[in-house]
Amino acid sequence: MEQANDVDLMKLDTLIEEKFDNNPEALVMVLQEVNAEYNYVPQGALQYVAEKLDIPLSKVYSVATFYKAFHLEPRGRHIISQCVGTACHVRGAMRIKGKLEKSLSIKEGENTKDMKYTFETVRCIGCCSLGPVIKIDDDVYSNVEQDQVDKILEKYQ
Ligand code: FES
Repeated sequence: MEQANDVDLMKLDTLIEEKFDNNPEALVMVLQEVNAEYNYVPQGALQYVAEKLDIPLSKVYSVATFYKAFHLEPRGRHIISQCVGTACHVRGAMRIKGKLEKSLSIKEGENTKDMKYTFETVRCIGCCSLGPVIKIDDDVYSNVEQDQVDKILEKYQ
């Protein structure tokens, strides 16, 4: 299968041609799809999107760096977002953070060596009375206790 670095070009072709009809105005939506597919926007994808949509690479790059939702560095298959907002902090978020960092053997902002997880902190997930709260991919875990962390992580392969 055709590859540009770590990007599956056939998949990108299908996405850009069939779903967005090579429309340059769909740039943000294309980048959203790429980010969702890879959990980040690979360099090869930026170049390919620029070619396919006939947009200067500099513009594609500036859009990709403008939106915080787009990540330009590789991220793990599962994204762990731990809330460290005030309400969760008061309810013991830092204990859970310490446990997560110990279990994953990484610090906040890092990927595990096997690229299974990325560990990030966020300021609020929107369910403050249920803290401490962690989100893994689309799953939210509330009232998390330290001794539940490893069991929760086991669910994600
Ligand atoms: S402060 Fe943690 S969910 Fe709002």
